Amino acid sequence: MALVTLSEILKDAEKNHYAVGMFDIHNLEMASAAVDAAEEERSPIILALAEVHAGSVRQLQNLADVAVFCGRRAKVPVAVHYDHGQSIPYILQVLHRGFTSVMLDGSAWPYRENVEKTREAVRLAKAFGASVEGEIGHVGGSEGEVCGEDNSCYTDPEEAKAFCEETQVDALAVAIGTVHGNYRKAPCLDLPRLEKIHAMVETPLVLHGGSGLSEEDFRNCIRCGISKINIYTEVVQSAEKALRTDCMKGGGYLDILRTTTNEMRGTIAEKLRLFGSAGRA
Ligand code: 13P
Repeated sequence: MALVTLSEILKDAEKNHYAVGMFDIHNLEMASAAVDAAEEERSPIILALAEVHAGSVRQLQNLADVAVFCGRRAKVPVAVHYDHGQSIPYILQVLHRGFTSVMLDGSAWPYRENVEKTREAVRLAKAFGASVEGEIGHVGGSEGEVCGEDNSCYTDPEEAKAFCEETQVDALAVAIGTVHGNYRKAPCLDLPRLEKIHAMVETPLVLHGGSGLSEEDFRNCIRCGISKINIYTEVVQSAEKALRTDCMKGGGYLDILRTTTNEMRGTIAEKLRLFGSAGRA
């Protein structure tokens, strides 16, 4: 099936009040786990590659090709997205390789610099027919870390509105109390802030740091306007758990790959059901 853009995949989610899950992958097994879960659940999905996981340019190119290859073979709608991009040359690399969406994450930069770089990403992506996600406010922490550091800065609704108007992004990541990685204590989500942003901004809203949130948190966030949810930590940690338990009982490399991939597939499928996207493809 042809890949779809982020704008296209989020349109139905917004209309029908569910969220599309975005899952960062960094090898073929993770990409296969995500696509298999989406097909099983008949759900749209966003396959993503994060700049921080890319390592070298060669690795970025290889992983980008893996993501596009797996996405194109899927029997459900797939958008292939570049997560937390900060380098315009890297963004160009993935656009040339067929990505249908890129994030320019200027959330740690001064407002004006964030606007200028995001506009540059929008200009480039438009030439490839791809979408752009921006971020205003800052979701802190670090994916996969045992204790995500909370250096978040909550999104100001007025600033979010101005940012969307100035940049014309297709999706906006907002900071409302989530962090990347594991939580030290249960997150306290600022839902009134999210509702206000949603009322002021027409752009689809994105929740980063989805690992560790409860079923009720997801339900509330979707009700208050979130239509894309990013997950990474929980997926890799489900594989790590299987490695420590099942895989330690014996078996070779192939058994380890099969067991951990299957575990990640199950974790992703569960999220798709929670987000309400199952059965929508
Ligand atoms: P978690 O690792 O906390 O799930 O966050 C993932 C994320 O937001 C990627 O952009």
